[in-house]
Amino acid sequence: MSMLMWICLIAVWALLVSTEGQGFIDDDSNVSLDVDNRDDDSWTSEAVLDVAFYLRLYKFNDFDRRYYLKSDKNSSYFYAQFPVPPLISFHWEVYEKCSENVLTCLKYLQDVISDTQFQRISSTVHVMRQMNWTMEKNSNMIRMVNDECLRLKMSDWEKPVPFRGPLDRFRWRVTASYFMCWYTMQNISLLSVFNEPCDDIGECYRAEELPDFRADNKLPYQCALYSFCPDPCCPLRRVTAPEECHDVNPCRHTMTEATEKSCKFVRNQNTRLPSVIYNEWNVSCACTAGYEYDSRYGACIDINECATVSDICDKNSEICINLRGHHKCICRWGFTWSTDQRICVTDTAVKRAEIRFASRNDFNSVKTSTSIAASTNSIWTIVKNIWHRHSPSLFRSGS
Ligand SMILES: *[C@@H]1O[C@H](CO)[C@@H](O)[C@H](O)[C@H]1NC(C)=O
Ligand SMILES: *[C@@H]1O[C@H](CO)[C@@H](O)[C@H](O)[C@H]1NC(C)=O
Ligand SMILES: *[C@@H]1O[C@H](CO)[C@@H](O)[C@H](O)[C@H]1NC(C)=O
Ligand SMILES: *[C@@H]1O[C@H](CO)[C@@H](O)[C@H](O)[C@H]1NC(C)=O
Ligand SMILES: *[C@@H]1O[C@H](CO)[C@@H](O)[C@H](O)[C@H]1NC(C)=O
Repeated sequence: MSMLMWICLIAVWALLVSTEGQGFIDDDSNVSLDVDNRDDDSWTSEAVLDVAFYLRLYKFNDFDRRYYLKSDKNSSYFYAQFPVPPLISFHWEVYEKCSENVLTCLKYLQDVISDTQFQRISSTVHVMRQMNWTMEKNSNMIRMVNDECLRLKMSDWEKPVPFRGPLDRFRWRVTASYFMCWYTMQNISLLSVFNEPCDDIGECYRAEELPDFRADNKLPYQCALYSFCPDPCCPLRRVTAPEECHDVNPCRHTMTEATEKSCKFVRNQNTRLPSVIYNEWNVSCACTAGYEYDSRYGACIDINECATVSDICDKNSEICINLRGHHKCICRWGFTWSTDQRICVTDTAVKRAEIRFASRNDFNSVKTSTSIAASTNSIWTIVKNIWHRHSPSLFRSGS
């Protein structure tokens, strides 16, 4: 083997070893979720807000430069999709810290964010809220703050310190989003309520814009979902009411006639980290009665009430039959529907016939050889007749 070949082999081996640590988690990792105490409220709630602001910048203002040259394609943003295809590998440092536990993750993310140029505290919206400024009274101050906000935003876009470049930052933010979104799905209580409006997406001053209804900071986990996760059923940048999602709702494309409009992203159906990374989102749609939504098929599927609802029919007297959208309980053999009692009652006619039959034929004799021979004979006659009709040539010579 030549020297060059050895060098190549070693290089490949080194590559394999070095990517191992930052590869994807194969399956449910045992990431500790129990570090969720509220003693550290002071820094954690601020950290959540800072991190959420910075990730919203990515969600609404950054895009994957490997696939999109410009941000003007509205499908390029995170709000339209998690990066598709997913990242080839995690940002190793985010992975290392965030797979430990939520507090380590949060502390690390906040530390890095504090070195970036454009942060929550410099956002015009945030300053206005802190200072109780209104445009009528404080327009000059607002203008000054806003100029600075715009300058920092531009400078941050052009020179993404402390990252090695835009792609490194992109990877950092995506990896952080994967984890923060996943923690949101895990009921981490400090992500539950932000206690602050969370629809500031770093656009600096916003005149009279209605808040995004998805960023309702009074509903548990809404701000966290808005900041960290995609919205598969409403991939729009700003929406003030659910109706605005209807025309662009991709969850609706797959709907069958049994589906009504509203589809939702349900947290407790999206708790697996590998699926979070690979965009395998489960949504839940309102279906008409008797159907339930199945994300695998993207459609409303008939509920088999007979299999899923126990004791739906009376075990002794009824049989359950699953039908499209509903089920039926029908009376078993030997029972008949009583219109008076509205239940299946013993069918006296059948019972009487059975008794008569049983007394005339000793059941044991049915199994005697003569009766078996007789029945096989008659079956043979029937088969021969059918056969004869369909292929007469087979029997012509014999008959
Ligand atoms: C994860 O936890 C489960 C149950 O606690 C355990 O059986 C499994 O071996 C753990 N996996 C890893 C990779 O530690
Ligand atoms: C995307 O942009 C196109 C034109 O550039 C526009 O017609 C379309 O409505 C936009 N879609 C969304 C979801 O915003
Ligand atoms: C803003 O208003 C709130 C109550 O409306 C008050 O508690 C707070 O101190 C005010 N902040 C400033 C900077 O004036
Ligand atoms: C989160 O809470 C919801 C409702 O309280 C529950 O149904 C779900 O199982 C919880 N998920 C986890 C991962 O604990
Ligand atoms: C969605 O549901 C499927 C089937 O239950 C599951 O395999 C997948 O992990 C879920 N997705 C997420 C993001 O948890």
